[in-house]
Amino acid sequence: MKKEDILRQLRETDGFVSGQELCAQYGVSRTAVWKAIKQLEKDGYVIEAQNNKGYRLAKDTAGMVFSKAAVESCMDTKQIARKLVFHKETGSTNLDAKALAEKGAEPGTLVVADMQTAGRGRRGRSWDGASGKNIYMSLVLRPDCPPDKASALTLVMALSVAEAVKELSPDVSCMIKWPNDIVINGKKACGILTEMSAEPDCIHYVVIGVGINVNQTEFPNKISDTATSLFLEYGREIDRSRLVAAIMKRFEECYCLFKERYLLTPLLDRYNSMLVNMDRQVRVLDPKGEYEGIAKGANEKGELIVERADSGETVCVYAGEVSVRGVYGYAV
Ligand code: BTN
Repeated sequence: MKKEDILRQLRETDGFVSGQELCAQYGVSRTAVWKAIKQLEKDGYVIEAQNNKGYRLAKDTAGMVFSKAAVESCMDTKQIARKLVFHKETGSTNLDAKALAEKGAEPGTLVVADMQTAGRGRRGRSWDGASGKNIYMSLVLRPDCPPDKASALTLVMALSVAEAVKELSPDVSCMIKWPNDIVINGKKACGILTEMSAEPDCIHYVVIGVGINVNQTEFPNKISDTATSLFLEYGREIDRSRLVAAIMKRFEECYCLFKERYLLTPLLDRYNSMLVNMDRQVRVLDPKGEYEGIAKGANEKGELIVERADSGETVCVYAGEVSVRGVYGYAV
């Protein structure tokens, strides 16, 4: 029995969980259960103990704790994130995940951090964030497909994040800005950075890094027009452990469908229904020449279909080459 097993029971039960039941279920002594409870209290959980009833978790404070045990106690996946590495603080979870992958980490290994000091963003940018408020995590995968098909994985993760956020906070209008930013009310709440180690015809590993602004309450001036957090849009704190677990659950399901042919085909309707750019005017920042057009959704390879305003031609925009802006602002 591990403390996360007890924590899972406490989280899933509304009232008291009897000490006797816990002993019987895990075949351990009352002292072992008591010690696990004490460890959980040390981690920050508020647990009420009553002589004839057992133990009860103060649910409103449970979401404040973000730890390995907290995340594991919520996890409900078969293969994805069964191996979890948790850092109170690290430079970059993508770098950590890549180092683990180089040493042979099994696919599905997830690195999570409470704080990142050297977070990496797309296009060589940095990804800064508050401590103890957000989610920084990176997932190791070893897909058995040609390297050019792996770029669509970033859209699979975007869909998983968007659907999980919607599940946990149904009132939030969470959308995807192609290819993989999560936007709420036109502002970015999550970024995804996918990195790969491959040879021309085989992938060694893929690391999908996800940074979500969860409970952050303010942003530096230079990004406050385009960045937001779930807290700011939803109006209350979100339990990060539950959100990590919900994303991994969704991702496992979506990845399984994607792996059938390494195409987005079975996920496309779901992805396009959350696309903030759908049927909207976009500006394509192509290094060979910028142009405007109407976005018609992603295709099965994850490219954005755009009807060009100048020529009327329909083109497929590949995420690695260009970025897309809304014509009026960051998203639309
Ligand atoms: C973007 O620029 O939109 C992508 C940002 C990705 C940030 C995440 S945070 C967790 C993981 N570790 C990193 O260093 N970066 C990614």
